[in-house]
Amino acid sequence: MDFKILGPSQSVVQQNNKLIIKTAEAEAHVTVYSPSIIRVNITRQPADADESFAVIREPENSLAYEETDAEIIIKTTALTLRVNKTPLRFAFYTPDGKLLSKDDDRFGTNWQNSRVINYRELQPEEHFIGLGEKVGNLNRRASSFTNWNTDASDHTPKTDPLYETFPFFIGIHSELTYGFFLDNTHKSYFDFAASCDDQFIWLGADDGDLNYYFFGAQTVAGIIDDYTWLTGRMEMPPLWSLGYQQCRWSYMSAQEVLDVAAKFREHNVPADVMYCDIDYMEGFKIFTWNNETFPNPKAFIDKLKAMNFKLVTIVDPGIKVEEGYQQYDEGVERGYFATYPNGENYIGEVWPGRCHFPDFFREDVREWWGAAFTALIEPGVEGFWNDMNEPAVWNQNMPWIVKFGDKFMPELRNVYGMQMARATYDGTRKILGNKRPFVLTRAAYSGTQRYSAVWTGDNTATDEHLLLGARLVNSLGVSGMAFVGVDIGGFSGNPTPEMIVRWNNLGIYTPMYRNHSIKDSEFREPWQYGEENLNLIRKFIEDRYRLLPYLYSAFYQTTQSGLPVCRTLAIEYTHDKAVYYEDYQNQFLFGDGLLVAPVKSTELTAKVYLPCGDWYRLGTDEKYTGGREYVVDAPLSDMPVFAKAGAIVPMQNVTQSTQHSGDGTLILHVWNSTEDNDFVYYEDDGNTYDYEAGNYHKRSIAFSPNEKTIKISAAEGNYKSKYNLLELVLHGFDDAIHLNKLNFNNDEIVIEY
Ligand code: GLC
Repeated sequence: MDFKILGPSQSVVQQNNKLIIKTAEAEAHVTVYSPSIIRVNITRQPADADESFAVIREPENSLAYEETDAEIIIKTTALTLRVNKTPLRFAFYTPDGKLLSKDDDRFGTNWQNSRVINYRELQPEEHFIGLGEKVGNLNRRASSFTNWNTDASDHTPKTDPLYETFPFFIGIHSELTYGFFLDNTHKSYFDFAASCDDQFIWLGADDGDLNYYFFGAQTVAGIIDDYTWLTGRMEMPPLWSLGYQQCRWSYMSAQEVLDVAAKFREHNVPADVMYCDIDYMEGFKIFTWNNETFPNPKAFIDKLKAMNFKLVTIVDPGIKVEEGYQQYDEGVERGYFATYPNGENYIGEVWPGRCHFPDFFREDVREWWGAAFTALIEPGVEGFWNDMNEPAVWNQNMPWIVKFGDKFMPELRNVYGMQMARATYDGTRKILGNKRPFVLTRAAYSGTQRYSAVWTGDNTATDEHLLLGARLVNSLGVSGMAFVGVDIGGFSGNPTPEMIVRWNNLGIYTPMYRNHSIKDSEFREPWQYGEENLNLIRKFIEDRYRLLPYLYSAFYQTTQSGLPVCRTLAIEYTHDKAVYYEDYQNQFLFGDGLLVAPVKSTELTAKVYLPCGDWYRLGTDEKYTGGREYVVDAPLSDMPVFAKAGAIVPMQNVTQSTQHSGDGTLILHVWNSTEDNDFVYYEDDGNTYDYEAGNYHKRSIAFSPNEKTIKISAAEGNYKSKYNLLELVLHGFDDAIHLNKLNFNNDEIVIEY
């Protein structure tokens, strides 16, 4: 085993905005991306081109440094990096000299053969959050993780790795915060002081560079803002994708899909989306339709549209080896598939049997893939579900000798799914013209938020998975992925009636609300559990539709700052230790104003922790003083949700689909407080990119208990709101205030009470 530790600096040279420090073992390249983002790339193979799948920004800061005999010092307004020269070690401080994070003095960065690992000093009582789709506790301390995108069907709440790779975490200690993003696509490792007598944390990868971005913002939200500045933010999702989505592996025919859709309307259960899982295809061949069971896709989708449903269809990367099948013939002829080093196309087995796998790392292959969506879009599909893209092959072990272009599988596996989602997004966006595509992917890497939503794969119908789902969604949110779903009800197994009820209650507060289940499972639609449960589930789904104006505004916030829709309490209450306790770690804020406490279906009371400030139970307006734990009722009809004092939550009346225009009334809920608060309300047509040209309706809503006013600013943007009346509902105010409906046009509205 060749073992090397980064040793003393031998030379320091500035090249444009990059500082290059050479040692006998490697070079360290330091660049300042912004005052709060410094990149350090420790490389043994300096490359001419700087490639990243995740990062979309260039450094915005010029570089200035001081050098002494012992140190190199780089100072920005937000960070100080002190580089010890002998041996080369990196330490990050706040501008006023508080230590944020540093290399372990002894071990720093080192190599065992090609494997590069960085050892970092553990700080007093340090907590860690993030890493995206990882099981375990909110606080990652004392746990270790591997990034290696895996088809983790039948995973448990302890399985690692799952499907996605987000090598980004946030460290929290001494009332300080920092972020760390290791942009390396090889199999990577993060160990948060799991087995080392609390001496250090360590992280690194099987090969490649120790290429990281260090974030110095002093709030978690600020770090997420910077991380999503660097890796991109999602764009506004189509409004319909925020409605209720019904899936199953599989509705076996067009008629069955239509019958289920019709039942939603019959039972008055709001819903927007139906799915076709793999059985809509001919022999699982991507971009085909089964002639017998889906004989006329256009007529089928037209009927769905007439019921105000959208259709999402699944696509997998595996292209069936079968002469005469267009994708196979074209792919082989043009050399579009992953190969062995001798040029033979790699074959692995997935649903269709023996398959080739498109090389999504090539632009021409992505374009070819993207253009093929015409077969789905022409008849009317608007959502594209990318599955099995870890990439999954039966027995889970694509050989390491498989090549994509000149690179081998181990270097690219973790980004394969992301590149498939990118090809799908780019292609469908082009074909759909001005309409927003909805793309969903199972495998992902940092930056995937630019192209797609994700879901958390094949979970199970247990209460542990219900709670785990909340944590996965929240952790993905910390890692830039705000648009996330879990299979409501659990993919494998059959939920009890109580469980499906509870899980639907949580579904309201999940960014993507999709019910999905495995082949041969019991049917899962809301009416399958008797009248009483149907009434409960209907009420939850109705609540989701009531909340859409609030939810859509929360997504707008994500597009602007990366702040996710579902926010672990660690984002807002970072230094409150209680939010990391196992009892409370599943709780989260849904948007700015609502706190959700997920509860198992078997428990009808719940221990909840309300952080500092006042809170009101949603539904009853019972008031609680925060900063402590409460035991509260948690009947199946009402999982505990609390509005924060001062919360501003715009709602609407129920519609059966987001495509119904509704009754034109925006219902503004405000919970009393002693402190001022405001909210950005955002609306657009929900369907096109016209908002990019100013076609939106945006206003700020300011609640001032001190002035006793609620002020809604004049509208910004050219879009005419679909609401023309405003109704105000005040909670927790002493005087019963009754206000008639007000006109909601573009003018400023001032309400005094
Ligand atoms: C995978 C997916 C699941 C899907 C199934 C069949 O297991 O994770 O969601 O239903 O494949 O396509």
